[in-house]
Amino acid sequence: MADDIPGVPLADYSASRSCEITPDRIDIEPFTMVIFGGTGDLSQRKLLPTLFHLCADQNLPDEFSIIGFASSDRTDEEYRELVREAVEKYGNDSVKSECWERFSRHVCYVSGQFNNVDSYRKLFTRLQELAKVNRKGAKDVLYYLAVPPHFLPDIFQGLSSCRLCKGEFDTRVIVEKPFGSDMETAIELNRLLGASFDENQIYRIDHYLGKETVQNILFFRFANSIFEPLWNRRYIDHVQITVAESLGIENRARFYDSAGVVRDIVQNHILQLLSLVSMEPPIGFEADYIRNEKVKVYRTIRKMDEEYIDRFTVKGQYGRGVIGGDDVAAYREEKGVASGSTTPTFFACKIYIDNWRWAGVPFYLRTGKRLPKRVTEISIHFKQPPLMLFSSACKVREPNVLVLRVQPQEGIVLHIGVKHPGIGNQLYPVNMSFNYEEDLQGDVHFPLPYERLLLDCMKGDQTLFARQDGIEAMWSVVDPIIQQWERAGAPDFPNYPSGTWGPGSAEELLHREGRQWHIW
Ligand code: BG6
Repeated sequence: MADDIPGVPLADYSASRSCEITPDRIDIEPFTMVIFGGTGDLSQRKLLPTLFHLCADQNLPDEFSIIGFASSDRTDEEYRELVREAVEKYGNDSVKSECWERFSRHVCYVSGQFNNVDSYRKLFTRLQELAKVNRKGAKDVLYYLAVPPHFLPDIFQGLSSCRLCKGEFDTRVIVEKPFGSDMETAIELNRLLGASFDENQIYRIDHYLGKETVQNILFFRFANSIFEPLWNRRYIDHVQITVAESLGIENRARFYDSAGVVRDIVQNHILQLLSLVSMEPPIGFEADYIRNEKVKVYRTIRKMDEEYIDRFTVKGQYGRGVIGGDDVAAYREEKGVASGSTTPTFFACKIYIDNWRWAGVPFYLRTGKRLPKRVTEISIHFKQPPLMLFSSACKVREPNVLVLRVQPQEGIVLHIGVKHPGIGNQLYPVNMSFNYEEDLQGDVHFPLPYERLLLDCMKGDQTLFARQDGIEAMWSVVDPIIQQWERAGAPDFPNYPSGTWGPGSAEELLHREGRQWHIW
């Protein structure tokens, strides 16, 4: 009986659902955030609007400071003007005057060069001044590195040479992806980071982990007793993960053409989704317990040799096509992309996780740019029942499928078969579904990924951030694929028209095993 188990009281089913949800309480100590690259694209599009939103929502403490650090000369006042424009252009909040007043007085600017030690001395002085002005002393200092990766070594060097990493202030550092471009560069980046900061000060951001529905994967698995017993090779036929985008590369040719789809999406977002859906239950909800289990997944992914990569991976690059009724250019016609570029924009693959739970269960992964629509979805395909007891007009029985819809129309769908009403014994496929928007009756605010992740960093919670060993283990999964693809060249590129689901060989990958891709 449940009341015999310590800590598990009997459920009170009479309690109304909404009463059980208490408003989130967020206790954040006064802090200073220094944004390196404070005038750049990421800062303007994401960070500054998110910080304003957090302030407008009263999630920040009374005392905090934001310092934009960049190379151009500006006064604090001029920087505030840039911030205001960014919030107006990219934020969802109206910049109401009293909110803006409250926020903008916390914002200031330091102009400096990343490779100049005097700039860091200036920063040090500014931080000390702010610590005096703030009654409680701004001892918590967060560095957000919103800069291209080649600036990172200079910044680490500058910070540590001026005692800005440890000692005077309690610091944390937030690093954006890409974390290196392969295993070797990732190890070097981690070495540089580790020379200046301890692992518990380092927050490696993957914005997918800030998505509400991605976090829900763990809640769904480990808060419901009915699915976990089925979550293994005995009941699951295979698993699919799709991260599809209808967008092209926007204005990011410089980064994308040297990165390609595997470094951009697979090494991070897809492997994060894979680990959440396949990991063992952690022994607690603390950051390291969860991250330990994720790393085990990456390490048990079956090593891919050349023959395997040839047979079970598919690469593609988009050509011209039509998306949403509009003609769109081929990848090679995008501004900044070389006319003969062999950079892949599509990836599909079958992998195996060689552990007790998943032995023999294929995981099919795919992602691409300029696909017909933007959708991120994980589907768990269950095995067929052992006997076909019921007649059916068509002999095809649809298996049970559980769909975890990450975006858009966030929700969960369970595909089941029921008897079709009538005198015949016909099986009819239907869905049981949960949709965040509809089922919570509009009473739902999806925090944007950066909102959640910045708050977690301010609170000192590393659960949703990648750890060094995780990053390196993820590179060891994808490095062989990248290397072999680069060696092989791409004589057939472009090999899928924009607005289609990728090259035919991606369909073929599943068809030859009697399966097909699934999108709800
Ligand atoms: C980024 C990639 O990490 O994720 C982009 O660099 C991609 O290429 C983006 O477009 C997709 O994120 P989302 O949240 O739109 O699925």
